[in-house]
Amino acid sequence: MDQEKVIVIDFGGQYNQLVARRVRECNVYCEIYSYRTPIEQIRGMKPKGIILTGGPNSCYGEDSPTCSRELFELGIPVLGLCYGAQLMMHVLGGKVEKAPVREYGKIEVSVDTSSMLFADVQQKTICWMSHNDYISQIAPGFSIVAHTADCPVAAAQNPDRQLYAIQFHPEVLHTQEGTKMLYNFVRNVCGCTGTWRMDSFVEQSICEIREKVGGGKVLCALSGGVDSSVAAVMLAKAIGSQLTCVFVDHGLLRKNEGDEVEEVFGPNGPYELNFVRVNAQERFYGKLAGVSEPEQKRKIIGEEFIRVFEEEAKKIGAVDFLVQGTIYPDVVESGLGGESAVIKSHHNVGGLPDYVDFKEIIEPLRNLFKDEVRKAGLELGIPEKLVFRQPFPGPGLGIRIIGEVTADKVRIVQDADAIYREEIANAGLDRSIGQYFAALTNMRSVGVMGDERTYDYAVALRAVNTIDFMTAEAAEIPFEVLQKVMSRIINEVRGVNRVMYDLTSKPPGTIEFE
Ligand code: XMP
Repeated sequence: MDQEKVIVIDFGGQYNQLVARRVRECNVYCEIYSYRTPIEQIRGMKPKGIILTGGPNSCYGEDSPTCSRELFELGIPVLGLCYGAQLMMHVLGGKVEKAPVREYGKIEVSVDTSSMLFADVQQKTICWMSHNDYISQIAPGFSIVAHTADCPVAAAQNPDRQLYAIQFHPEVLHTQEGTKMLYNFVRNVCGCTGTWRMDSFVEQSICEIREKVGGGKVLCALSGGVDSSVAAVMLAKAIGSQLTCVFVDHGLLRKNEGDEVEEVFGPNGPYELNFVRVNAQERFYGKLAGVSEPEQKRKIIGEEFIRVFEEEAKKIGAVDFLVQGTIYPDVVESGLGGESAVIKSHHNVGGLPDYVDFKEIIEPLRNLFKDEVRKAGLELGIPEKLVFRQPFPGPGLGIRIIGEVTADKVRIVQDADAIYREEIANAGLDRSIGQYFAALTNMRSVGVMGDERTYDYAVALRAVNTIDFMTAEAAEIPFEVLQKVMSRIINEVRGVNRVMYDLTSKPPGTIEFE
């Protein structure tokens, strides 16, 4: 796509996707690349600006991630954040050392509002700091444009060379005017005009899909989740009846979800596409029998998906393309972009077997963050109910059942989850919580019900608030709502005698259990 863009060079910090998200909020397209990306490749991308992220290292360490001096000599504006700021100073002749006072948390920063970076920012503004090292001496040609009580260089600039360094994290929401600072950089310093808009993205994607597919046949893996639904509708609009959507009911969906998907995408729904529902529950349970290792479960589910599609494709005849609802965080988290460690192999990306029988894979949402997918969905006219559906992982309940998956465990988690969702909706909380679901722990414990001893499973309730799904906090659900859910689950779901609420944030936890 010939699009003005800013690139984020990833040094391994935890907020790196957030940087890209915030830049896109400024209507500027942004991609994340590893710090190992060769300088020629960076130049070749013709970015309007470069942002260096934070990272866990000390830039003066021997094996620390670094960048060449050339990066600052491309004539492209560069903004360094935290580690990126220190690295800029270090590489250009300043000095970075262990800070006498470590700064962590919300800290008042005094900024020089005459700097382009801080235009329209309050002179004293709250920012999020998290650093052990500090810039003790700025590089030649730079001037200091922000400081705190403990940090003499909270920001520095060399406007003639369009180089800017910020010690704090403008990308996190705790930095109250952070988005404004990033806006100032990408729109005013880099001169981006703001061409990244969902309406044009959708329009352009539809054209590109048409061109790419030509007269070919396309098979779409429809899961009923937001991502694959948006991808399917985009494809349906682009190529209509050349598209066949295969919906595999792997028996790991939420309660009644299979029928709900059929209602929307099936022959009685509003879209003109060929819809095939495959009831493959038994097949998946069979493959998963005796398997308890999370990555192995994910791989099995992913591979089985592909097998089922291959079989369907054979029935349909020659199929040229396979559509997947992969989104940008899947790409980055799978270690294919940026510097992130491989946390899990998202089955959409990592679990593809080598012998896929299709000409090519189409991933129309590959560059989008989740909230952008939703915006695209609304642009496409998909009903809000579907667009704002909670995220549901491809491997489904398979990763919400810790340990071996069995039909009975699926029943337990489906029933418990349905009760939980119903009560959350009754309490009016369904739109305000990011993601919530019930999971089945692999723990059984002793209880008493009536006069009988029980030895049953514990269900875990999870509810998180998150902006980007990369970090999350447990949601504060009123105790009486939790109690009601607990008592209904214990009473209505056979095989459960304990209900727990998961308080863990991400990190260190993940949102899903496996
Ligand atoms: P985690 O558990 O990684 O989840 O903190 C972050 C978000 O991603 C969803 N998720 C997945 N989505 N395929 C998907 O399409 C997957 O394999 C997968 N694993 C997790 C999860 O529901 C949450 O929204």
